[in-house]
Amino acid sequence: MSFLKPAARPWRATDFNYSWVMPHQFDADLVYILRTTALVESRADQYGDYLRAVFATRGAPWREAIDRWNHEEAEHGRALRRLCETADAPFAFDRHMGAYLDGVAYHACDGHSVRGSIAGELVARCIVEALASTFYRVLRDSCRDETGRAVLHTLALDEARHYGMFHAMLQAETARSPLSRWRRIRVGLGRMLELSDDQIMFAAWLVDADASPRYRRAQTARRYQAALYRRYRFEHLYFAARLICPVLFGSRNDVLGRAFAAGLWLGLRLRGSLSRLGSRASRQELPRARHC
Ligand SMILES: [Fe+2]
Ligand SMILES: [Fe+2]
Repeated sequence: MSFLKPAARPWRATDFNYSWVMPHQFDADLVYILRTTALVESRADQYGDYLRAVFATRGAPWREAIDRWNHEEAEHGRALRRLCETADAPFAFDRHMGAYLDGVAYHACDGHSVRGSIAGELVARCIVEALASTFYRVLRDSCRDETGRAVLHTLALDEARHYGMFHAMLQAETARSPLSRWRRIRVGLGRMLELSDDQIMFAAWLVDADASPRYRRAQTARRYQAALYRRYRFEHLYFAARLICPVLFGSRNDVLGRAFAAGLWLGLRLRGSLSRLGSRASRQELPRARHC
């Protein structure tokens, strides 16, 4: 049994013709978001190590799925790096990546899930992949460059397959160890609220040439959200809702999906507006290494 379905068209980062990239088709905020994401995706091996430890008791099919997933996520990082390097001025990727790895630790690989259980971990993973697929659709739809759109579309398809993989794992896990609906909602919504934590924001601060010399998470979050959230349309959030609702509520009901999408839309609009209006920077210290 294979949890991860193969891609309809397998690809590698080197398959895209980056010489066709037209830099003027990328707005500055899009480059900022892509650079941030290149760093976050390029830490795939740490995500893989953590999940292999958490799922260690579940056997070979689980390990093989995570190995394959790890490989694909690393390829996302390589593709985004190449795209950033051709879409804008030289990108000091290695320097930024070193600072990112030094600045923000990922979860400890001690075999324990930070979500309290394997099932909880899988709920969080489904949410991350659903939001990642939505995120790449949003970036694709706001990118005017053909090669950029092709890369982002390919990543969106991969993330949707990853969602399918973790959802299949979640179903297998909850068949032996049920997870209450309340717990699903709590873990899932909690993971969504973590989108402005240091894992992304520290990367966003590193790649922002205009950022203040000292990292402040709240200030960086306002800058990042103002650049990103205005790109989301209702159809993007409806796509996200159709993936998330079965995980949180065990339902594919269309009314529920539209209501959830409307909630997401309102939340993003509110947060995006507040980010643009934000006047006070919260003073945050550099993140300490987390034992997650
Ligand atoms: Fe990815
Ligand atoms: Fe993914």
